[in-house]
Amino acid sequence: MTRKEPGNLPFRTWFDRYVGSFGTEGRLPPLLELKRDHSRRVAGLARTLAAASGGDGNEAEAVGLLHDVGRFPQYRDYGTFYDALSVDHGELGRTVVAEALARGELDLAPELREPLMTALRHHNDLALPEGLTGKTAYLAALIRDADKVDVFRVVREWFESGRAGELLPRLEPEGRLSEDLLAEEVRRGRLTHRHVRTHSDFLFLQLTWIDDINFTATLRLLLERGNLDWIAARLPAEGRPAALQALRRARTRASEAC
Ligand SMILES: [Fe+2]
Repeated sequence: MTRKEPGNLPFRTWFDRYVGSFGTEGRLPPLLELKRDHSRRVAGLARTLAAASGGDGNEAEAVGLLHDVGRFPQYRDYGTFYDALSVDHGELGRTVVAEALARGELDLAPELREPLMTALRHHNDLALPEGLTGKTAYLAALIRDADKVDVFRVVREWFESGRAGELLPRLEPEGRLSEDLLAEEVRRGRLTHRHVRTHSDFLFLQLTWIDDINFTATLRLLLERGNLDWIAARLPAEGRPAALQALRRARTRASEAC
């Protein structure tokens, strides 16, 4: 007797099943296990931010849990999480969800489908496209914030345990900021990975993400967790003035009403 695959699974069950298919007996390759954990934490953070900003907790959780589904086939097919060397994982995630919906495997409320897929598609873009509105704009902004909060945590954890080299193997060790990156910051353009050469550069880049945070609740969470102060204190001297300015901007915004 063949076992019938259940269709139209609620998003949490679908996620577990889809992601589980990349491993054996519930165990994933270690780097995919990290992505599964990250997805679950981002789902919780998205729920928290939705509660603080008047959004729908279930919808936020769905976007949070599914935002990185593209990472799993990306890693299986290319062996890397570097989009530039493989595939845009936001775009791939959108395709994965679209196909699961088309095959009737995943159950999502009709009004959530397009907003969720658009939020997935753009969660990793340098900036959101102009013209998003309503639920789409809200969820796209929310998931970018929730994602960043967890990345701040992950990076801190790996640096503090001396494993920065495992997390960012292509970069040189901490201790120096690239002049090109500092020049880019002084011009107050959006920093890109182009000039990131050292682990200190990466931390500096991460600190400038705070200008791309959408909700004051997110800034409060980051400040409460001490993640921004941690980076500022860890940067080489040439990055301190810019870091302290960034922190001041964050505190000012965090003190504003939502
Ligand atoms: Fe992502």
